[in-house]
Amino acid sequence: MAAKHLGIVILAAGRGTRMRSDRAKVLHAIAGKPFVVSVLETAAILAPARLAVVVGHEGAEVERVCAAHLARHPIAGTVSYPRQTEQRGTGDAVRAAEAAFAGFDGNVLILYGDVPGLRASTLEALVEQHLASGATLSLLTNELDDPTGYGRIARDPDGRLRAIVEERDLAPADRALREINPGIYCVRAGFLWPALARLRADNAQREYYLTDIVGMAVDAGKVVETRAVPDAGEVAGINSREDMAVLEQRARRALVEKWMRGGVTFRDPATAYLEEDVTIGSDTEIGPNVQLLGRTAVGRGCVIDGTALLRDATLGDGVHLRLGVVMSECEIGAGAVVGPFAHIRPGSALAEGVHIGNFVETKKAKIGRATKASHLTYLGDCDIGAGTNIGAGTITCNYDGFAKHRTVIGDRVQIGSDTQLVAPVTVGDDAYVGAGTTVTVDVPAGGHLVVSRVPQRTIAGWVARKRSSAASKSGTPVATPAPPKAERAKKRTPKRKVVSTRGAARAQGGPRGKR
Ligand code: UD1
Ligand code: CA
Repeated sequence: MAAKHLGIVILAAGRGTRMRSDRAKVLHAIAGKPFVVSVLETAAILAPARLAVVVGHEGAEVERVCAAHLARHPIAGTVSYPRQTEQRGTGDAVRAAEAAFAGFDGNVLILYGDVPGLRASTLEALVEQHLASGATLSLLTNELDDPTGYGRIARDPDGRLRAIVEERDLAPADRALREINPGIYCVRAGFLWPALARLRADNAQREYYLTDIVGMAVDAGKVVETRAVPDAGEVAGINSREDMAVLEQRARRALVEKWMRGGVTFRDPATAYLEEDVTIGSDTEIGPNVQLLGRTAVGRGCVIDGTALLRDATLGDGVHLRLGVVMSECEIGAGAVVGPFAHIRPGSALAEGVHIGNFVETKKAKIGRATKASHLTYLGDCDIGAGTNIGAGTITCNYDGFAKHRTVIGDRVQIGSDTQLVAPVTVGDDAYVGAGTTVTVDVPAGGHLVVSRVPQRTIAGWVARKRSSAASKSGTPVATPAPPKAERAKKRTPKRKVVSTRGAARAQGGPRGKR
């Protein structure tokens, strides 16, 4: 195809009133991809000599999204973003692109930014037919059982195209027409620009309809070609949230089926939500209610039990995500086990064989091979070595109210339950931190025990005294529990006896609790 004689205009200036949104319609997304980006990608495949995206409503943002998407694309340099300052209809929108086509005398393909399912092969076939037939204007058409919302193709009794009639301008006799205008045209530049200059807004919507150039071409005796598209979904225009949901479901189903063909098991395909850039290795099993978003890459032979949301997460082979995992911008090494109920936040990197258990949150945490944090823990801004065990209820106190600080924990370290690590702080290799310790000072490597704990005291008979003093204040008698056997044996109970021995404190010096 003579791409150097092909230009493309994408209309993306409209607000999309029927979406009832503050956002421009073309920025809404199907399977994570904004409509306008889908159309842009399709257009780029045709490698046009010039490409104009007409922007208006939220124009700067639409331009930013398109430009970011094309950043490293070879056609980026040929793309312009003409402004349509006031949204006065699709014909007016194409006119806004005229200056971008100064000196261009090829054919202009016109696409609407709200038709995201369109395929490049369909456009190529349209352009080929257009060139082969020597037509001035060619357009796609589609037959629908329910043509509501679309412009209709009106033909003469002999089947020759007469014009396109917008739904709101339909004469009663034309209401039965089921052939619709999907809004994809290929037009000779030499005909297009003068025809647009002659458009009038004398219709039900008081807009400059692009569709009127079709009738103009017919009236001027030009060759006008139509090409039927078999797949209605491909050319469906999205005008409402309902339209969006229908396409979303189609797109989702197509992605799930693609990965099933790639050897992935979905226990409930109806509740698997994948975005286009996701990759999944073969023999991976995915349970119900799983969302894999962004650039998430799942390895081979992984198991995702269910109810998980992963965005931009990279999983090695054989990873097991138990029920209820939320992850973003993180890396999980091969054979790691995460969950149930775990939150792996950006910048987390778990090495091979790491175990992260229930109610554990990690953020910017680099965790070494086979290290475990199995229960109720926050690991933020930390580097943890290999073979280390983080006890239940451990917290890295990474934020002092002003700045974030890092915690560094070495290899083969035992962190006892309910430990707080007040960052910045380092715990050296082989250290043993006693349960309930608040680590505020660096712990050297070399297998030392560290414990910070208030010695335990037992105050004998305290409860009985407390109750009787409360009762005497309120005047209510209170049952007093029998004192412990040891106390009963004694003649006299001291007013306040503190039972606390150094031996007892020493006995509990080692770490306690679940690890
Ligand atoms: C349009 C067609 C209709 C066709 C349908 C296919 C016209 C007059 N009607 O109707 O025949 O069946 O698409 O989906 O063309 N836009 C602008 N500036 C504007 C108005 C619209 O850039 O002033 C853009 C919108 O952002 C959108 C596209 O043009 O991407 C189509 O506009 P929309 O208002 O959705 O047209 P429809 O009413 O669907
Ligand atoms: Ca539309």
